[in-house]
Amino acid sequence: MQVTSYTGSNSATMIVWTLAVFLLFLSLLKIVQKKLSASDTSKSLPGPWKLPLVGHLPFLGFFPHETIFKWKEKYGPIIFIQFGSYPAVVINDGALIKAAFNMPSLAGRPKIKLLDETTLNRSGFATSDGPIAKELRIVDDDDGYRRFVEDNVESATLPPLLALTVFLPKLADWFPELTGYKQRIDYPEVQEKAVEEIHTTLGTNGFPRYSDRANLPYCEALFQETLRKTTVVPLSLPHRALEDTKFQGYLIKKDTMVMGNLYAAHNDPKVWTDPESFNPERFLDSNGKLNNMEAFVMSFSTGKRKCIGENLARNQMFLFVVSILQNYRLEAATQLPSGRGVLGLTQACESFQVRVYRR
Ligand code: HEM
Repeated sequence: MQVTSYTGSNSATMIVWTLAVFLLFLSLLKIVQKKLSASDTSKSLPGPWKLPLVGHLPFLGFFPHETIFKWKEKYGPIIFIQFGSYPAVVINDGALIKAAFNMPSLAGRPKIKLLDETTLNRSGFATSDGPIAKELRIVDDDDGYRRFVEDNVESATLPPLLALTVFLPKLADWFPELTGYKQRIDYPEVQEKAVEEIHTTLGTNGFPRYSDRANLPYCEALFQETLRKTTVVPLSLPHRALEDTKFQGYLIKKDTMVMGNLYAAHNDPKVWTDPESFNPERFLDSNGKLNNMEAFVMSFSTGKRKCIGENLARNQMFLFVVSILQNYRLEAATQLPSGRGVLGLTQACESFQVRVYRR
C-alpha cells in the first residue's frame, strides 16, 4: 500500500517535470528563432548547405573565388555564405556588384576585432566606415590635390635598368602572360606587338610619360587584359551593410558582410567571349582603338569604396612595363607554373625565372 502511494506521487512529479522541460524547450526555441530571423540574412537568400560554427569555410577550397563562382550555376548571382562566424552576401555578377557597391548603405567595412586593434579603431582609409570614410574620400576627391600629385610624378622619368631591377619581380607576378608564363606558347606575338607599338610611337630611346598612354592603345589593351585575367584582388575587400538594405528583392540585414566576386565579373561568358583565353585584342576595335570594353574591367573594384590608388597604379604600371619592353626582350627560363597563381590577400604568380635580353 505504501509502495503504491509512493509510485503515484513519483509519476505526478515526473509529468510536471516533463511538462516544465517541454515548455522551457519551446520558449528557448522561440527565442532562438526570433534572434535568427532578426540577425540572419541567410533566411532570404539562396546558398549551399553549411555546417554549424564553421559555416561554409571547409567547402571553399584554396581558391574561394573559383568555388563561389561555380556555385553561381546552382544558386544564382547573389548567394549567402557564412565565413566562420561572419555572415556574408556574395555577388557573382559585374553589373550587380556595380549596383550594390554604389549604394551608400552597403559602403561600410566589416567590424572585425583584429582590425579595430591594429588600425587605431579603424581610422585608416581602407578600414574606416560611416562619417570617417566619407570625410577621407572628400579629401581624396579634391581635384587640386590629385592634379598636384599627378603633375609632379608625371615629370619623373625612369632609367630602364632601374625599372628592370625594381619592377621585374612584380612584373612576373602581374604580367605572367607577357613574360612568357603559360601563354607564351599560345600567344607568342603579344610581347612583339606591344614592342612594335612602343618603338613606332616613342622610338627606341625616348622615355615614356603618362601622357603617352593615350597614344599606345595596344599597350593599354594589354594592361586591361592582364588586369582582367589576373584579377589581383579576386574577392575585392569586404563591405558591410550600414543598415537593413533591400537589394534585388533580398533583405540584407545591418552588419552583414557584402562581397563582390571580381573574378566572376571577369570570367562571365555573357560579357567576355572565351574568358579563359588571354587576348588583349578583345579591348580593341577594327581600327586598333579602344572599344570601351575596359568599362567592364573592375580589378580596382567599383562604387563608393573603389580603390583610391587606381590612377597611380595604372600610371606606374605603364611607366615600368613600357620602359622595360622598349629596351629588353623577356623570355621564360624555367618550367612555367600553373595558371592559377598563389592566393593571399592578393593573387600572385608562383615564382619562375625570366631570361632578359637587351634589344
Ligand atoms: C594593381 C594595383 C591595385 C589593385 C588591383 C587594387 C585593388 C583594390 C581593391 C579591389 C580595393 C577594394 C575596393 C572596395 O572595397 O570596393 C582597393 C581598395 C583600396 N586601395 Fe587599392 N589596388 C591597387 C593599388 C593601390 C595603390 C597603389 C594604392 C595607394 C597608393 C591603393 C590604395 C587603396 C586604398 C586606400 C583602398 C581602400 C579604399 C576604401 O576603403 O575606401 N591601392 N584596392
